[in-house]
Amino acid sequence: MEQRIAWNDLPRRVRDAIEDRTGPITGVRIPGLGQNSPLAGIIDTSAGRAFVKGMPSDHRKVIAQEREAAVAPFVAGISSVLLWSFDLAGWSVLDYEYAAGRHADYTPGSPDLDRLVQLMTALTAISVPRNPGPFKPAEDRWKGYVDDPAMARVFAGATLTHSDWTPDNVLVSGHRAWLIDWAWPTLGAPWTDPAGWLLRLMASGGHTPRRPSSRQRAANPAHIDLFAAANVRLWDEIASSSNSDWPAAMVQAAHDWHAYRHAVRWAAQECQSAPARPRPPLASWPTVRRSGPSASPSADQGACQGGRPARWGTRRSRQL
Ligand SMILES: Nc1ncnc2c1ncn2[C@@H]1O[C@H](COP(=O)(O)OP(=O)(O)O)[C@@H](O)[C@H]1O
Ligand SMILES: [Mg+2]
Repeated sequence: MEQRIAWNDLPRRVRDAIEDRTGPITGVRIPGLGQNSPLAGIIDTSAGRAFVKGMPSDHRKVIAQEREAAVAPFVAGISSVLLWSFDLAGWSVLDYEYAAGRHADYTPGSPDLDRLVQLMTALTAISVPRNPGPFKPAEDRWKGYVDDPAMARVFAGATLTHSDWTPDNVLVSGHRAWLIDWAWPTLGAPWTDPAGWLLRLMASGGHTPRRPSSRQRAANPAHIDLFAAANVRLWDEIASSSNSDWPAAMVQAAHDWHAYRHAVRWAAQECQSAPARPRPPLASWPTVRRSGPSASPSADQGACQGGRPARWGTRRSRQL
């Protein structure tokens, strides 16, 4: 998580370069949420409000900001419009149209969930060139989180995905939702973004992973299992390199989802033939060798119940 820089701590030349483009700035508000950009500010000018974000040009994540600028023309219909960008005086800065709105509410029953489904549908309809430059292929993004990098090829695809569906990155205004913060544009299989959203629904909304999306149902279940396992590794890694608590909910969700898929797969494969056999432990499941805390101990110990995994949460989950 990045520490936000105070406006007046930005180098004078950078502030001047911004004001050259916006006109005099009369007010700045630093948003409290969001994690990755050292500079984030909602600015007031005589022309209206705008949002600027940026980081030093030699920052290790500056490539993510370059990707965000590159994807902007493709996602202008579902995100706020990128007005200009510069790399000057040692800073890379993007300036967006201000999107009035609040962060999305992911709790079960929230009316925002339908808006999110619409957003996801609109995103799926966006086509990008076959060689879209800097966007990362999913197989590259995930290859470090599977046993053999070649295994990540099952995540490959031509669908533009956002990959970071935290509610902080969705602004809701009226009946519309805007998907902002395109730092991780990824080309991948169409089910990967709904799967990533499911994890966020679990972490931020308290959903259970009970109902797979139609896109997930169309995918090979073994590929989704591998994605669940890769997410366990990703979020364990993020948590271990973070000195704050913010990844804890995602760690929990990733472990829960993985354990749930293990339970479902075991039920599908085993329950019909041997309903009395206890389920093998999660750690013996081949797609995750690295052990992590079992987020849901009961998921390791359940037995068949009418061909379905026993003892999973009853809270309502969303059909994605
Ligand atoms: N176009 C915008 N209009 C209004 N507020 C925005 C806009 N873009 C981002 N924000 C606010 O700033 C926060 C941080 O922006 P974001 O692009 O997500 O940066 P970070 O990389 O730090 O997560 C968002 O969670 C949102 O509250
Ligand atoms: Mg963000």
